[in-house]
Amino acid sequence: MEIKGLLFALCVTGSLLADAQDINLPAPQKEGGQPLMQTLAKRATTRDFDTQKEIDPQTLSNLLWAAWGYNREDKRTAPSAMNRQELSLCVITAHGAYRYDARQNVLREIAAGDFRKSAGKQPFAQTAPLNIVFVADLDKAPGNDMMFVDCGFISQNIYLYCASAGLGTVVRGSFDGKELATVLNLTDKEKVLLTQSVGYPAR
Ligand SMILES: Cc1cc2nc3c(=O)[nH]c(=O)nc-3n(C[C@H](O)[C@H](O)[C@H](O)COP(=O)(O)O)c2cc1C
Repeated sequence: MEIKGLLFALCVTGSLLADAQDINLPAPQKEGGQPLMQTLAKRATTRDFDTQKEIDPQTLSNLLWAAWGYNREDKRTAPSAMNRQELSLCVITAHGAYRYDARQNVLREIAAGDFRKSAGKQPFAQTAPLNIVFVADLDKAPGNDMMFVDCGFISQNIYLYCASAGLGTVVRGSFDGKELATVLNLTDKEKVLLTQSVGYPAR
């Protein structure tokens, strides 16, 4: 892991690393935020990010929990058709590519380094502090056209969290699935369905 990545990891945990390469996120804050109607009034797409301002660990934990965390014993903040829960979220930052382990609240490192150039062809995606990649497990959703619908719920959770927390976001159908599959080390039973960039809006 590069020094920058290591510092980020230490900063993220403020405590312990789950493993040499993994990042323990702080527990998500499940209270607070703006009222729903005000949040809906602010929900919008942003493509102009402050490229220097990283998303702090607490905010990242809150964001990922809001997106697709567990809010019950074995169910999540977004619904999925037949409760298949076939999606997982990968994140690409300036420091590495990770898979969100929602159960343990840990970012499992896939690879260290800056892979944002592979996150999307639109220039803002390549400099956004965070890109979230929606990955479907095709074994869990054989022939399931509903997996794209399931993506939409998670994406909207991200939009709403961002609106409430003063972050900007844009969901993107524009990406190179093969390139992302390589960066994220996906199996041939996994498929990238959608991507979403997140960052603080440029002032
Ligand atoms: C499924 C989907 C795919 C999208 N793909 C892209 C994309 O690849 N690039 C982009 O800049 N915006 C993309 N968008 C964002 C839309 O352009 C945006 O939601 C729309 O212009 C309405 O703006 P609003 O979100 O501010 O209401 C996508 C939106 C959806 C729902």
